[in-house]
Amino acid sequence: MRNIIITGGAGFIGSHVVRLFVNKYPEYNIINLDKLTYAGNLANLKDVEDKPNYKFVKMDICDFDAFYKLMQEEQIDGIIHLAAESHVDRSIKDPFTFARTNVMGTLSLLQAAKLYWESLPEKYEGKLFYHISTDEVYGALEMNRPEGVEPPFSTTASSAEHHHAYGDDFFYETTKYNPHSPYSASKASSDHFVRAYHDTYGMPTIVTNCSNNYGPYQFPEKLIPLFINNIRNRKPLPVYGKGENVRDWLFVEDHARAIDVIFHGGKIAETYNIGGFNEWKNIDIIKVVIRTTDRLLGRAEDEDMNLITYVTDRLGHDARYAIDSTKLQKELGWEPSLQFEEGIERTIKWYLENEEWLDNVTSGDYLNYYDTMYGKTE
Ligand code: NAD
Ligand code: TYD
Repeated sequence: MRNIIITGGAGFIGSHVVRLFVNKYPEYNIINLDKLTYAGNLANLKDVEDKPNYKFVKMDICDFDAFYKLMQEEQIDGIIHLAAESHVDRSIKDPFTFARTNVMGTLSLLQAAKLYWESLPEKYEGKLFYHISTDEVYGALEMNRPEGVEPPFSTTASSAEHHHAYGDDFFYETTKYNPHSPYSASKASSDHFVRAYHDTYGMPTIVTNCSNNYGPYQFPEKLIPLFINNIRNRKPLPVYGKGENVRDWLFVEDHARAIDVIFHGGKIAETYNIGGFNEWKNIDIIKVVIRTTDRLLGRAEDEDMNLITYVTDRLGHDARYAIDSTKLQKELGWEPSLQFEEGIERTIKWYLENEEWLDNVTSGDYLNYYDTMYGKTE
């Protein structure tokens, strides 16, 4: 495969995937297709924007005609689809936008890819539609921590300890879909459409479901970057409910590496779960973030613990997510490269060293980056 569209490449995970592919595969043409919503920021890709194998195209994934034309012009043989509305709280306030982009947008890409690939003499040979999804489609797991096993509060606890920290059931590739939020419902629906295009038309597709990502370039509306930014500015840290919900955290570069491995070696029509065996209660991860940020800022230990502010719980707040990624590890040899301790330290350091990025994103100045780089179009 040579000509690849990565949708949502200006977002958090997408920018890491674009960077990895542009740097690792100089022989590929990488097209970053993004609408540049509030979550898209071309400043995330400053270091690759001048590379000869990289191109940015501003486009809405719901624009069927434009996408079909782009596929023809660029003779696209691979699509890695990350563009989505991705924040659960926004989906609770505005579900329609999530249905439009995540469901109709994905369907639009699938249909355009189908028409273009079926028009070629080789048809689907050597083609791939790779859809990036979330573990949230599986719903929520029970908290049934085995008797006598204390949850690991240390960042140095092993993966195995963290994996079995809060329950003995996990999300497997075979787990039944049971989404609860408008976000996860829209992602579940898009996953079904992707599989339907394989089963009905024979399109080569792969779907992966990943756990919560953390790392550089995440929009500061999600837990970890929001809290780092608030600690930096000594603003309250809004903890939903009792802070008891459990999430399974993976460093974003490990997700990008998994996407690379699966794009090149994954089996058509398969699903792979991606996760780092790294379960944390929100309140515990929040304490780690406060301690680490305070230490890196040279503040007294636990100085900012008093910023913790318990607020009304999120509606329909899923109790626990925990991914079993054994299939990916066994079949394709991928494993997380970082212990959480190292990943969170690197992440917090990055935000503190890139305060300008944080300030641009929170002030909205980043929205002008496209106009500055590419000239005003609208
Ligand atoms: P993000 O919100 O940071 O980025 C989304 C990107 O998609 C942005 O650049 C945005 O401009 C673009 N976009 C949104 N609507 C668009 C449209 N209509 N047309 C074209 N582009 C559009 O999201 P993220 O956290 O990087 O997530 C990327 C993908 O990974 C999503 O599909 C998400 O569901 C999935 N995922 C995320 C996580 C996580 O922890 N962040 C975990 C598992 C899976
Ligand atoms: P988030 O980063 O929004 O990811 P997701 O909802 O996709 O898991 O939230 C992670 C967890 O942190 C989730 O249980 C909700 C909680 N949370 C807070 O307690 N306060 C906040 O301000 C945010 C954004 C999230």
